[in-house]
Amino acid sequence: MTERVLTGITTTGTPHLGNYVGAIRPAIAASRAPGVESFFFLADYHALIKCDDPARIERSRIEIAATWLAAGLDTQRVTFYRQSDIPEITELTWLLTCVTAKGQMNRAHAYKAAADANAAAGEDIDAGVSMGLFSYPILMAADILMFNAHRVPVGRDQVQHIEMARDVGQRFNHLFGAGRELFTLPQAEVEEAVATLPGLDGRKMSKSYDNTIPLFEGGERGLKDAVARIVTDSRLPGEPKDPEGAHLVTIYDAFAADDAARQAFRAELRAGLAWGEAKQRLVALIEAEIGPMRARYAELMAHPERIEEALLEGASKARAVATPFLAELRHAVGLRPMVAVAAPAAPKAAGPKAALPEFKQYREDGAFFFKLTGAHGAVLLQSGPMAEGREAGAWVKRLRTEGAAALEGAPVRWEASAERAQVESALAALVAAAQQA
Ligand code: TRP
Repeated sequence: MTERVLTGITTTGTPHLGNYVGAIRPAIAASRAPGVESFFFLADYHALIKCDDPARIERSRIEIAATWLAAGLDTQRVTFYRQSDIPEITELTWLLTCVTAKGQMNRAHAYKAAADANAAAGEDIDAGVSMGLFSYPILMAADILMFNAHRVPVGRDQVQHIEMARDVGQRFNHLFGAGRELFTLPQAEVEEAVATLPGLDGRKMSKSYDNTIPLFEGGERGLKDAVARIVTDSRLPGEPKDPEGAHLVTIYDAFAADDAARQAFRAELRAGLAWGEAKQRLVALIEAEIGPMRARYAELMAHPERIEEALLEGASKARAVATPFLAELRHAVGLRPMVAVAAPAAPKAAGPKAALPEFKQYREDGAFFFKLTGAHGAVLLQSGPMAEGREAGAWVKRLRTEGAAALEGAPVRWEASAERAQVESALAALVAAAQQA
């Protein structure tokens, strides 16, 4: 069985070297593993929660998409799309919102942090809190459940949100699944092996600490300037240096080809390699990996229409999954085409000329269905959604020719009005009519 791996990238800011090492590079590597089907998307609706500057939203989406593509994401293998290109996600968000306990959202980290800060400042706890921020975990649950992801690689701060997605999915399954698992319950995956890259000052590399090394911005010059600002101790050239605990070495490790290279660098430092020289080696090492990507990045940024095209292709792959599944979910909650819902009186001993029951096939929200209506128009049998019209046609054909024997395994639900006996006799009538014809 292929495993489905899904993750979202909130499109705020410009990716730095820490994002590359901690998220982009491992995700792309993981997407090449056999037996996985990866869904990576730009969480641009989530970005709107944090940012009301359209120009920044626009710029960040392009930069982040270009970064992933330049870093080697293979859009033939991976379904790579924008959240905002998939209307099914927002529609599912509402279905989930209706089964999510408000109390649980009160405890979500992002909201709680804002509420606690307000309380500490003596403000109304909800000051400056939008409904977007409050409902953030529900949108995220929809992102994940829409595609029935098994594994969701995220940072530690997001684990609670994945657990909330599990809870909501479970509740939905219980309420509407009629014994079936409509949603796969996702598992958070925090990659412990991937080191978080230290920044210039040794703390975790982060915009908020202003200690980042740019990924592509500023070219090789920008990389050199940043590396020059990495804090080291003040040992002079020729003096032995302690490589353990030097974050310059930690950054080197993240790019070194293998352990032998890591050990060699340490040995040189112990032997007195100057920090200035060590920094030049580090720049050369990083540049060897990201230099070619930077060229691809520049090319993409000069041709944003290529990025747009790749994302639209991704969106259509994603919607091929989302559209029929949402049709099934709508059906499950009772948003169904209008057909007779009350049982008419059972037809009295029909004469030989009585009208026959009828199969109808139809298409709704991109999925294919069939139903069987009795002689008086009541729905006796209703199918679930199918991705292919051919599949619906094949089932109708089997039910018509084999009768009730074909019910076993057929993708059908009983309407409340339909007694099994009624369905069986309707099918028997059709089989008999087909044999006479
Ligand atoms: N909230 C996530 C973050 O800030 C991004 C995200 C949005 C996401 N939807 C997701 C991650 C679904 C995983 C799955 O990192």
